[in-house]
Amino acid sequence: MELLANHDASGGGQKLPWIIDADPGIDDAAAIITCLRLGCDVVAISTVHGNSPLENTLQNALRLKELCDSSVPVYAGCSRAILEPRRNAPEIHGRDGMGDLSWGPLGSKHEVEHAVDMIIAQSHLHPGSLSILAVGPLTNLAVALVKDPSLAQRVKELVIMGGTSGGRGNTTIVGEFNFAADPEAAAIVLQAGIPITLVPWETCLKNLVTLEQLQEGGVEALHNPLAEAFLAMTAELLDRTEGVLGYRGFLLCDLLAAAVVMDHEVITEAVDVFAAVETSGTYGRGLTAIDYAKLSGAKPNVNLVLDVDTKRVAALLRQALIA
Ligand code: RIB
Ligand code: CA
Repeated sequence: MELLANHDASGGGQKLPWIIDADPGIDDAAAIITCLRLGCDVVAISTVHGNSPLENTLQNALRLKELCDSSVPVYAGCSRAILEPRRNAPEIHGRDGMGDLSWGPLGSKHEVEHAVDMIIAQSHLHPGSLSILAVGPLTNLAVALVKDPSLAQRVKELVIMGGTSGGRGNTTIVGEFNFAADPEAAAIVLQAGIPITLVPWETCLKNLVTLEQLQEGGVEALHNPLAEAFLAMTAELLDRTEGVLGYRGFLLCDLLAAAVVMDHEVITEAVDVFAAVETSGTYGRGLTAIDYAKLSGAKPNVNLVLDVDTKRVAALLRQALIA
């Protein structure tokens, strides 16, 4: 599969420089914790509007940096979409975007440089080796591509949680949140020509991490501040997920994308396809249009992840929580 070949052949892709672009977000937290704690070379975390307003996602990213005892620089990005009116998800992530827990004061501050400028600067520092794990609305990356189209030549690959593999929306009838919250940004990024591994909503629905999987190997090891903080922020998520899906489990979409970065072998089924994002239409706006039947004649631009090894994903998160 051509696009897969772009991934670090040694399987040690995480040893190359990565930016995590996120809207923390409880599942973003799982992704960020996994990458930071398992030794991914994260050169920066950029925050974006999404699950919660930017002021919250920024604070939450700083909180996660401290919980992980990391020195990674954190940047503030775009506070709104290119055109789409604001969308947040307090019903899933809480009013503050990360479970509405009562935290102590933050000891760290974000960088002065805007995330869009940081992304461009990092691509010049690491031309051809910089990759981006994008697990929020794609506004920062899209604006960076508009500001400097040559960015696409310097980015090695994108691993994105977003979109759908079969048009099953979670935010609009056909729109998954990250793409529906900024369809223009998603369209710009998908057509930029950067190799993309895309983890869509339906794949996440099939791969909920269970508490039992996290506890495999012993509960004792999870009695540490980081694991306890994470489990506390996810406590209500289990109830909400059961209410929506009818079964209990951690619906941690962004963790699946982080797992692809940390251990590409978690992918059990993927296909190279041409994919585009619809930006017009009453019902279609935000749709991930996928050319499975190769009718468009367009070259595949996405390696679409259709399934993963859930146990392997859960083991990565557990390893990160007890590291
Ligand atoms: O649709 C799920 C995605 O939207 C996840 O990235 C979640 O954190 C939200 O950003
Ligand atoms: Ca997210």
